Amino acid sequence: MADAEPSLRELADDEDFLIGTCVRSSALRGDPEYQDALREHYNAVTCEGEMKMGALRPSRHAFDFEAADNVVAFAEENDMTVRGHTLVWHMSNPDWLTPWTHTGAQLRDILREHVHTVAGRYRGQVAAWDVVNEAVDDDGTMRESFWFRKLGASYLDRAFQWAHEVAPDADLYYNDYGADGLGEKSDAVYDLVEGMVDRGVPIDGVGLQMHALGERPDPDDVAANVERLRDLGLKVQVTEMDVAFSRDTPAEEARRKQTRYYGDLASAVREAGAEALVVWGADDGHSWVRNWRDLPDRFRGDPLLLDENYEPKPAYDAVRDALR
Ligand code: XIL
Repeated sequence: MADAEPSLRELADDEDFLIGTCVRSSALRGDPEYQDALREHYNAVTCEGEMKMGALRPSRHAFDFEAADNVVAFAEENDMTVRGHTLVWHMSNPDWLTPWTHTGAQLRDILREHVHTVAGRYRGQVAAWDVVNEAVDDDGTMRESFWFRKLGASYLDRAFQWAHEVAPDADLYYNDYGADGLGEKSDAVYDLVEGMVDRGVPIDGVGLQMHALGERPDPDDVAANVERLRDLGLKVQVTEMDVAFSRDTPAEEARRKQTRYYGDLASAVREAGAEALVVWGADDGHSWVRNWRDLPDRFRGDPLLLDENYEPKPAYDAVRDALR
């Protein structure tokens, strides 16, 4: 990056735009270079795992907020916006919650206590919550998670209402993957949130995860999706972007296509009125593509804006140019 060039964060701050990343508390504690990279390049952070129910609740009646508090404290020290992720998800839940042993009424009480306790703790510190994550299945039907099977579709409305009761100033988001452009799942998410708006549920926005792993939704379709969601009166944020290519893609081809796509997508969503672009990892060395399930076998481990030495890649410059 040329010395005279502003950092992505400086530009985003000037443009009143959020450019963020997910953060790992373990790296934050032990790696000054990681902290420096976060400070220099990002003005928003999301806990990659530390605010998920499994991380917060080692047992039925105990909460462990230390790691999440560590991320929030760092964000406040560095004037960064915090996105809360996530209050209700079908994954990363504590072992004591599954396998299934609770009645619907018990599960409802557990979920209400969770949302009230967690969203209430971070009132005034978390600006936006992913209240419910990935409730729509890949075919556009409601995902038959244990939340859905035991509580019915009303668990979404309830979770948003409970979050609003304890954090009335936070923006409350529905967050999902594979619903970034236009298509069956994107239409289903649109219908879901339209119904919530119509019922007066306190929903403020939709998070588009933008995990472009092997596939890259057409930026024009993503822009059209952002616009139709905003026409419902909702905010839109890109919440987990990464752009990965199959392992057999030549490095130069991958880098060229990645650079182009990050720039085109950032321009498209910015112009359509999205308020944030959050990438899923501060640098390639901290990407889930390098260590989650079969992702390392399928994709090149270089899906982000900074390389593993925290150096800006051409994709970083492309996003910066898009925000100018
Ligand atoms: C992933 C994390 O990156 C992994 O480290 C963890 O093991 C599993 O969850 N959609 C989401 C994120 O909303 O919470 C997921 O994060 C990636 C997919």
